[in-house]
Amino acid sequence: MNSETLPARTTTDSTHPATGEPAAEERRPGAGADHAPAAADQGEAEEFVRLFHTEHPDQPVPLARRLHHIRAQIDQQGTYSHTEEELAFGARVAWRNSSRCIGRLYWKSLRVLDRREATTPEQIHQHLCEHLRQATNGGRIRPVISVFAPDTPAQPAPRVWNDQLIRYAGYRQEGGGIVGDPAYVGFTDTVRRLGWQAPEGAWDVLPIVIETHQDKPELFDIPRDLVLEVDLTHPEHPHFAELGLRWHAVPAISNMRLRIGGIDYPLAPFNGWYMGTEIGARNLVDANRYNLLPTIAEHLGYDTSSETTLWRDRALVELNIAVLHSFHTAGIKISDHHTESRHFLTHLEREEGQGRTVPADWSWIVPPLSGGITPVFHRYYEQADQRPNFYLDNDAKNRGKGGCPYGH
Ligand code: ARG
Repeated sequence: MNSETLPARTTTDSTHPATGEPAAEERRPGAGADHAPAAADQGEAEEFVRLFHTEHPDQPVPLARRLHHIRAQIDQQGTYSHTEEELAFGARVAWRNSSRCIGRLYWKSLRVLDRREATTPEQIHQHLCEHLRQATNGGRIRPVISVFAPDTPAQPAPRVWNDQLIRYAGYRQEGGGIVGDPAYVGFTDTVRRLGWQAPEGAWDVLPIVIETHQDKPELFDIPRDLVLEVDLTHPEHPHFAELGLRWHAVPAISNMRLRIGGIDYPLAPFNGWYMGTEIGARNLVDANRYNLLPTIAEHLGYDTSSETTLWRDRALVELNIAVLHSFHTAGIKISDHHTESRHFLTHLEREEGQGRTVPADWSWIVPPLSGGITPVFHRYYEQADQRPNFYLDNDAKNRGKGGCPYGH
């Protein structure tokens, strides 16, 4: 979580490490926006409101009255609306329940921006910009979620097509090579067809595509000053900077549906701060992303003639040192996988102390670098789909079929 620090292979990143779940961008944008959404689930609504009252016992409106009101609303309109407090609680618990997220220790501090009133693409764009402003906070990154209007039988919710608010374009070259982020070649083509003037560089921030029920999908650029980025340097290799690598400071997932009390909020972008390995062991490294280990090994003069020199591993460690060093030097919040692993175990203890189970997915929680020397490796975790939660629509479909979310 998905959601702040949702570090690591947290809630979404484009492919699952082991199974190669398809990149989020391959899912059909706008899917679901064209048919009327179903009514709110009454049972889930009740379960959620009970949970809210259990964890916040001093409510001005007693539970029985609130339940009665919700039942009446669902009977009449097929839906009900969350109070501000329920919404904020629901979003925080959705993070708490995100089994792929190692960064859940801070779930209570999630800032929840209630944007349910926004209807036009322009208003939504303004709120997304404000989200980035509050989240970036000059480098002192804060976990933030913006919750837009839910799906209701009367009106489908707005959506954005991007899987994150900030991502780099990818361009296929004549000779077959790729400039930019290979995971976004398809999405880049899509926004070009919608009229985006592509600069064709290696680090072009993609525009946001906003689709509402009454308007066609519209493109919006994110103002430059809202995209904080870091040039990568290495503390011991001054020439490392010549590789010209960089990354953005805020990972803001924008394609996960937030489900609270039987209601779907398809547009509820959220962010945390990065854990270094997300950038240094996945985004810049995966063979289907920037694939930089060979370049870095060559730059550092390693012997790549045999796997047994472990040139890949050496390059990987140096890249991760560069990522953490560069963020620190720039004054931008980031965490390392050792610290974040310990924080996750603290979270487990705290939650268990409260009598709650912490569902976790081992293959996403264990960092993609030095897994075995982090304490999260040496444990068993419960797996459970507890609600509220965040869903990728692919997962939801497969769950419905009773299969594994990765299609296996
Ligand atoms: N792994 C994704 C990325 O590199 C971001 C997932 C969320 N991560 C987080 N730290 N909240 O962009």
